[in-house]
Amino acid sequence: MTQKVRIAIFASGSGSNAQNIVQYFASHKSIKVEVAFVNNPNAAVIERMKTCNIPIFLFNKKMFYENNDVLDALTTFSIDYIVLAGFLWLVPSNIIESYFNRIVNIHPALLPKFGGKGMFGNNVHEAVLKNRESFSGITIHEVNHEYDKGKILFQAICPVLPEDTVETLSHRIHKLEYLHYPKVIEAWIALNY
Ligand code: GRF
Repeated sequence: MTQKVRIAIFASGSGSNAQNIVQYFASHKSIKVEVAFVNNPNAAVIERMKTCNIPIFLFNKKMFYENNDVLDALTTFSIDYIVLAGFLWLVPSNIIESYFNRIVNIHPALLPKFGGKGMFGNNVHEAVLKNRESFSGITIHEVNHEYDKGKILFQAICPVLPEDTVETLSHRIHKLEYLHYPKVIEAWIALNY
């Protein structure tokens, strides 16, 4: 039997996308979520991963930016692809170079608008509403040395309604994320492999 492609998910917060991805690939014939890398010991994603029987690798800034601990752990887990799902730190160059074209992220807006440092979570939706945009959406992109600047793989749009709040818009965007992110990951890996 051929080995499955092994994914590591990186997450910092709630982890609803992480859980959705784990569930999508749970009985997949060729792709497996192996581990979740988490940089926040209080993140809700930890409980979510426990309920899905996914091991957690918890790390801090020093392990990420000052030595090779995170990269070494990726090697130990024999990780082929990295999926960022609500992960807030910029990925350092040792990992970008080792996983060139094999790191993907999801952004809750239509890049190149509303991206860059500080543009995460509800900040993005607040900016979209403040700017009175008629549409928002999701962008799935490869990850490079800069926030939200890697090659765009996929976008999907949704309307922004006049009565929208950060909560209603975030809810609509999350639904788009759950629908598309696992399938885009699956297709991207199939094309790369
Ligand atoms: C998502 O909206 C994603 O686009 C962004 O961070 C949010 C994470 O949400 N990168 P969750 O933790 O998956 O619920």
